[in-house]
Amino acid sequence: GGETAGAATAWWRGAQRPALLELAREATPRYVYHLPTVRQQAHALKTLAAVDRLHYAVKANTHPAILAALAAEGFGFECVSPGELKAVMAAVPESAPLLFTPNFAPREDYARALGTRATVSLDSLYPLEHWGELFRDREIVLRVDLGRGLGHHEKVRTGGSGSKFGLPVDQLDAFLRLADAHGVSVRGLHAHLGSGILDEAHWGEVYAQLASLAERIGSVGFIDIGGGLGVPSHPGEAALDMVALDRVLREVKAAYPHYQLWMEPGRYLVADAGVLLARVTQQKGKGALRYLGLDTGMNSLIRPALYDAWHEIVNLSRFDEPATGLFQIVGPICESGDVLGTDRRLPEAQEGDVMLIAQVGAYGKVMSSRYNLRDEADEVIID
Ligand code: LLP
Repeated sequence: GGETAGAATAWWRGAQRPALLELAREATPRYVYHLPTVRQQAHALKTLAAVDRLHYAVKANTHPAILAALAAEGFGFECVSPGELKAVMAAVPESAPLLFTPNFAPREDYARALGTRATVSLDSLYPLEHWGELFRDREIVLRVDLGRGLGHHEKVRTGGSGSKFGLPVDQLDAFLRLADAHGVSVRGLHAHLGSGILDEAHWGEVYAQLASLAERIGSVGFIDIGGGLGVPSHPGEAALDMVALDRVLREVKAAYPHYQLWMEPGRYLVADAGVLLARVTQQKGKGALRYLGLDTGMNSLIRPALYDAWHEIVNLSRFDEPATGLFQIVGPICESGDVLGTDRRLPEAQEGDVMLIAQVGAYGKVMSSRYNLRDEADEVIID
């Protein structure tokens, strides 16, 4: 096992607290991203000697300063839409590799991606059956479904019979026949089983399965074992152990040295770098429960409502005061699911106090909405 939850040593607990209070005085709700934490996570991934190329899964956070910082660390970029490709190309140098791995995308998305330097991935027969001329004489990546999914919540598992992702392995021969007919060369084999995985052995299993499939396809040069690297989110959970992960990967690589190994993490790079600052609006006692209202809720952070995700919440204005009770932390949105945290031990709060919601650098702002026509949270970088 690795170290205990990174949350215990998170950057926002220390010297940055006055700066965060100042940023909250200017505006809330507000996302704040700590670039040194992004770089620290990038460095941890770069210790994986078995991995030949890292793509950042930009769906986790598309802030241009984060994209630029990861480009400077040598990362490529995995994009799933023309919008993401555009955002990346505007923020990073032309030398950064791009990967386009959409799902059920329209024909024109592939056409646009093929007009860039991106390597394009397919995960069904349909594009070659119906739009074969688009891919003629191209090199592509094939995403397969290894028949199972994994992840922190049912809704983030992207493999197995209930999932819309990936080419089922029993259609591999049909895919290769179509590829052959169109002069398409399968250069890479790809799988991504889900998100928020904290078991190092998982990536070794995916790697070995993909490599063994690749032996049936003469043209494969690289294996992409996806992302999904989790970060500890509950107190006491252990972080991924990069030494153990590298050992697992190197074992497989020893058996298949002829393939390059690629990975595409999102969350691992940015989750702990981001916090959401919000202000206390009102309080209410109702039966046995005490509600603490904030000036934003599921419109800015939908993960608790969507996945029952747990995010640490602290009162930044009273950081050193003792907890006095249990609070339900809610937002101003007209939905009963507009809850950011339940049964949180916190000090007595007052209207205007600054609350911090932690570990929201991944899948926070990017999944936010203007529901109820609330203004969006803005974003600030600390470097
Ligand atoms: N590669 C592919 C093909 C993916 O679909 C994803 C994430 C990643 C890489 C990056 O996964 P990561 O390393 O970030 O786990 N909104 C959810 C997570 C959805 C992930 C979707 N795909 C959440 O907030 O937990």
